[in-house]
Amino acid sequence: MTYYVYVEPDPERRSMAGPYTEQGFDIVPELADLDEHLPRNPETLLVVVGAAVDLEAALTFAAYQRVQRPLLGVILLRRTPDPDVLAQAMRAGVREVVQELDAEGIRNAAVRSVDLSKALSTTMRATDHTRSAKVVTVFAGKGGCGKSVVATNLAAALSAQGGRRVLLVDLDLQFGDVAIMLQLPPARSITDAIAMAGRLDETGLRSVLTSYRPNFDVLLAPASPAEGEHVGRDLVTEVIEVARGMYDFVVVDTPPFVTDQVLAALDLSDWFVPIVTPDLPTLKSIRLTVEMFDLLEYPRERRLVVFNRADSQVGLTVEDVEEAVGAHLSVHMPSSRDVPVSVNKGIPITLDNPTHPVSMAMRRLADRCAGGAAEQVEAAPKRRMFGRRR
Ligand SMILES: Nc1ncnc2c1ncn2[C@@H]1O[C@H](COP(=O)(O)OP(=O)(O)OP(=O)(O)O)[C@@H](O)[C@H]1O
Ligand SMILES: [Mg+2]
Repeated sequence: MTYYVYVEPDPERRSMAGPYTEQGFDIVPELADLDEHLPRNPETLLVVVGAAVDLEAALTFAAYQRVQRPLLGVILLRRTPDPDVLAQAMRAGVREVVQELDAEGIRNAAVRSVDLSKALSTTMRATDHTRSAKVVTVFAGKGGCGKSVVATNLAAALSAQGGRRVLLVDLDLQFGDVAIMLQLPPARSITDAIAMAGRLDETGLRSVLTSYRPNFDVLLAPASPAEGEHVGRDLVTEVIEVARGMYDFVVVDTPPFVTDQVLAALDLSDWFVPIVTPDLPTLKSIRLTVEMFDLLEYPRERRLVVFNRADSQVGLTVEDVEEAVGAHLSVHMPSSRDVPVSVNKGIPITLDNPTHPVSMAMRRLADRCAGGAAEQVEAAPKRRMFGRRR
């Protein structure tokens, strides 16, 4: 394990680092070496940038790490740390600038920086502990648009990336399809939570969930349609509030109309995902739903419209659909017979066939829900951040 790295291109200066050599200390000749070193040693707390490293490269590195790895301290060694360098360095997020031969000064700066990193890490862990899931509600004005396909695949895509914890809630309380689509035994359902209403806690909620795969749990709809009537709006609110503390995402599937229970979910939603298909009855009903959303003041910028069966040649253009919905279409999902095949198989296509165009559309939706990661990844430079000099 390394905690400190010293970057110094000059072999003579490197050989003078002897006195600092201790356990957890590494020396590399180039900033570019950190591209591999840091990911492999994520516990690194400090980079000491040697005096022979180009100033500009050092500042770019510090500015980049300040965003990418806020816990990582950067200390800059210079032959003559004049005030101008000092000011630039501070602006870039360098913690201290020290004269390269001032061994005592370097040691003290290193101790201060590592102490700061440790303190920051403790605060960040403390904040992280109060996990607060983003709630994503999938809905449509009509039946059969693909809500359940989208909800199951979105949950799968979210949980498949980076160990996020996801709960899928089937709020289609009369005719929920999630149990069938994931081939889960309908042994436990949301109706089992009724007895705990008003005092539901994490243990209670866990006892009514069904695990689909690691990091992907499901709260199923009742097996018989009549039972669903006893699930009150307040219980739905309570379930989502408790789940928020346990997961990174709560994805909600809904019936083809807005019920009281759906409103409870919508009120707590961070993302609203309307599904539209290119046919007039669907467009008419989504238009009415969207107007209702405007009345309820659900923010427009929080709506991610999925255009399902986007490639169907039925005489409606994207503009027609956007006009009807009154919003941009965020994700286009093609029509494919592989979708009903995956439904019948009981495995979301996103997990079964990750490179399928439908799966890629679902991953784009997941990235949007996770905060635009897709755009960031696409915009990121392909080359290494710090090219080797020479
Ligand atoms: N992109 C697609 N390509 C092909 N078939 C699709 C696509 N999306 C959905 N389907 C099919 O359409 C049918 C309805 O999908 P789904 O059950 O997800 O809709 P829904 O909106 O949840 O319906 P309901 O309102 O009845 O709950 C399913 O048989 C599904 O396989
Ligand atoms: Mg459905």
